[in-house]
Amino acid sequence: MRVLSLGCSGFIGSHLTKRLLAEGHSVNGVDIYNDKIEEFLSHDNLNFIKCDIRNPGFNIDEIISDTDIVVDLIAYANPGLYIKMPLEVFRLNFSENLKIAEACVRQNKRLIQFSTCEVYGKTVVSILKDELRNPEDPKYALFSEDKNDFILGPLGKHRWIYACAKQLLERVLHAYGIEHGFNYTIIRPFNFIGPKIDYLLKETDGIPRVFSFFMDSLLSGKPMQLVDGGRHRRCYTYIDDAIECIYRIIINPEGVCNQQVFNIGTPENEVTIRQLAELMREIYSDKFSDKTTPLSDFIEVPSSEFYGEGYEDSDRRIPDITKARTLLGWEPQWKLRPMLETTMHYYINDYIEHYRKQTTHAHFHNIVQKALEIT
Ligand code: NAD
Ligand code: UGA
Repeated sequence: MRVLSLGCSGFIGSHLTKRLLAEGHSVNGVDIYNDKIEEFLSHDNLNFIKCDIRNPGFNIDEIISDTDIVVDLIAYANPGLYIKMPLEVFRLNFSENLKIAEACVRQNKRLIQFSTCEVYGKTVVSILKDELRNPEDPKYALFSEDKNDFILGPLGKHRWIYACAKQLLERVLHAYGIEHGFNYTIIRPFNFIGPKIDYLLKETDGIPRVFSFFMDSLLSGKPMQLVDGGRHRRCYTYIDDAIECIYRIIINPEGVCNQQVFNIGTPENEVTIRQLAELMREIYSDKFSDKTTPLSDFIEVPSSEFYGEGYEDSDRRIPDITKARTLLGWEPQWKLRPMLETTMHYYINDYIEHYRKQTTHAHFHNIVQKALEIT
């Protein structure tokens, strides 16, 4: 198959590129960066196009014409950015992605669109807590693709511009499906973790996802910051499990994925963010710490301080994966501890070795030094 992968060098994109090449497909990959797919750049079946899709010179119709299927992974996907630059998040995650979708409609190309579990928003518990007999019941946080309503916060909570942009894109794809028979599949990932997720912190830029913040704290001995006490919950999925499901969706046996929405997640791996911090610290202490560097403490930080005004959090979200199980025979395998150990090992060993050559930034250098002292 000829696959056009937009955002091919991101966290998910880099692992998908590896899988597609391993399965013998040819990949036309577009991304601004290529550091996460460096090892594949000389691969015969990879044609990497280093480009920003917002560039006027980027001709989406030309690139799509030479492909069998389009996978769109391009988006800003870090909550700090939804607060810091909501308009840019809307422009990229909706307006630019809509251009890709409409080019697929024009050329009748199947589109795999990456959306997010954030479209489900908050649980009813976050609104009706005191009126519910058992608010802890997981049924209130179990989200199914075709049944659940979406509960987002008020305008002043512009964290939700990300979820809203993705939701509107989903609704437009659905409309193209019923009015033009457009063939798409929407994927709603639930918090994937694994090697190559985001990056370790550099003070100059970047507000990564929680794993990178906690990993940076552990490497530097700084406190792990628990936003609003770390009471909110997430279900984490290991990237290899996710890629297996994504690949089955691309192969699309008997067209079962046509005009379908799929949750990809691991309901069994639910933790509070405080429990995630405790487990990462325990693993770090057992497996990686040099026993001399003090282990990170925990400090509680209000979200308004950590992210700024306009932040509101998704309190809990458990993926209903019945559809992926029944239509694709997919079952996630990885439990939380082994996935954290493997991902932390990558950041302790491979990531640092890979980036030591590239980065001269003092702060990062200190972290590298400290980490190298440990290994
Ligand atoms: P990522 O940030 O690692 O990857 C996105 C890639 O898109 C990056 O390589 C980036 O360089 C590229 N990109 C961004 N703007 C671009 C532009 N203008 N032109 C060209 N390339 C551009 O994110 P990810 O975690 O791999 O997520 C991929 C997709 O999945 C996103 O749509 C995200 O919203 C969605 N998603 C991911 C998760 C998850 O757990 N990782 C969860 C929910 C949704
Ligand atoms: C993520 C991002 O929006 C997207 O990547 C994606 O669409 C989706 O959710 C997903 O990954 O499935 P979120 O889960 O809130 O959003 O991402 P994180 O930034 O990793 O935050 C997770 C939790 O950790 C939040 O409750 C946050 O407040 C908390 N947090 C974050 C801390 O307690 N400490 C930190 O240092 C950072």
